[in-house]
Amino acid sequence: MSNLERVWWKESVVYQIYPRSFNDSNNDGIGDINGITEKLEYLQNLGIDVIWLSPIYQSPNDDNGYDISDYQAIMNEFGTMDDFEKMLKKAHECNIKIVMDLVVNHTSDEHYWFTESKKSKDNPYRDYYIWRDGKNGKEPNNWGSCFSGPAWEYDKETEMYYLHLFSKKQPDLNWDNPKVRNEVFDMMKWWLDKGVDGFRMDVISLISKKPDLPDGKPGINGYASFNEPANGPHVHDYLREMRTEVLNKYDTLTVGECSGVTLEEAKKYAATDNSELNMVFQFEHTDLDSDENGNKWTDKKIDLVELKAVLSKWQKGLEGIAWNSLYWCNHDQPRIVSRLGDDKEYREISAKMLATCLHFMQGTPYVYQGEELGMTNIAFDDISDYRDLDSINAYYELTNKGVFSKEEMLRYINIKSRDNARTPMQWDDSVNAGFSKGEPWIKVNPNYKEINAKEQVSRESSVFNYYKKLIKLRKNNPIMVYGIYDLLLADSKEIYAYTRTLDNKKLLVVCNFTNKFVKFDMPKEFVNGNVLVCNYENSDIHANELRPYESIVIEI
Ligand code: NOJ
Repeated sequence: MSNLERVWWKESVVYQIYPRSFNDSNNDGIGDINGITEKLEYLQNLGIDVIWLSPIYQSPNDDNGYDISDYQAIMNEFGTMDDFEKMLKKAHECNIKIVMDLVVNHTSDEHYWFTESKKSKDNPYRDYYIWRDGKNGKEPNNWGSCFSGPAWEYDKETEMYYLHLFSKKQPDLNWDNPKVRNEVFDMMKWWLDKGVDGFRMDVISLISKKPDLPDGKPGINGYASFNEPANGPHVHDYLREMRTEVLNKYDTLTVGECSGVTLEEAKKYAATDNSELNMVFQFEHTDLDSDENGNKWTDKKIDLVELKAVLSKWQKGLEGIAWNSLYWCNHDQPRIVSRLGDDKEYREISAKMLATCLHFMQGTPYVYQGEELGMTNIAFDDISDYRDLDSINAYYELTNKGVFSKEEMLRYINIKSRDNARTPMQWDDSVNAGFSKGEPWIKVNPNYKEINAKEQVSRESSVFNYYKKLIKLRKNNPIMVYGIYDLLLADSKEIYAYTRTLDNKKLLVVCNFTNKFVKFDMPKEFVNGNVLVCNYENSDIHANELRPYESIVIEI
């Protein structure tokens, strides 16, 4: 399959729902499946094609559903299997596909496999997980958990350690065991037979560990990164097996969340021959505001020149070889308008500029709930208002170790916490932003009176209607999906400009990433072009300057 061969998952726009924070239909303060069903018309109006649902399976919620105790049951707080089936049916009637979150690097420690595995060294499930003896009375190696502390938990019963790259309630599965792979493949088929349309695969790049589990370079808390096992020795074998055993029998969208993925590795994961996955989420652009050791708790800003270099590397590097996913936001990232735009004076204009910049690239775009409204970060004054175990654990670990003061750490959490993306969706200006009549599980952003869906759907100039326009343009302009990308002005510290080319058509995309007027000379070949879209009301192709956060797309 060539990069230009037309396929639905390349032409789709995916909308991510974090169910806990989306819409609460029974007013218990927690979003649910019936809440999603109620909002399908809203999504249909926006024009998206696919929903990626963050996990909705049975879970003790140590990590909000990313710790699954039963892959074939629905979390009580979210509803029932019947609710799920109704939602799926209605989504399909609205021409919206549903992609599930497949979290199989680890399970919950409350999953039956693990409760069995823990019982004894000769339990039939023992080898479903990664058990090791300690070394000199300590952990088997120096790996750290993504959520602070070591990646190993000692089990007194059998006097061995088990590996957990995430919380200790998320033990890592042993993918080298063929029984584990078969269990996962059977479960995937079960969901596909129910009619779901694909999977987003959680940290799938971490499933294959080197057998000797070597130490890594320690970070600021003394442990090596949880990413140490990324792109391990058999990861591509296992994904190819998944392709032949499961995916080839269905028509799916698959996207691998690939922490630690390099361009060279992505060429295998997302190769156009469809031997593994359709596309991957890479993290090089979202890691640009981490420090040189990969520590995200800093106030470093993303540098535009670096951002362009990274995104262009991915655009050109995968061209004709593999397929890109395009994203600014998800449930683990701060809000993009606060991160790269201006969430005060130029909130709407900068949100639209950022959308333009992303949606005109080659790849499949992902919109995270509330991004289409220009929702912003939250800054809680007290750590007790945060719910995300990543932020909370890091706060205590790094302040107790004296790495940061409490004030410093809270400031970094305000900027980077995953809870920035997890405050409830802002539907209208009624109590709790119309998310729930009960007390929400996490506080609502107080700016909901100004920023909400109801106001934006009915206002032509809103961020919502701008996203709607971009999504529609993509449907009618194959050049947005398939055109060849070329960066211009690589060294400009203010402007992100690139072209897209397909057959005899060409687009110029120009985005001002600053709050100032910036000089811009229109390249000659575009001076007589048509303006396809602009984030200001009146566009002037001959102005020789860009207004604050202006974006303009010209076609010839
Ligand atoms: C990545 C997910 O996106 C994140 O939310 C989760 O905490 C970890 N994987 C562990 O499943």
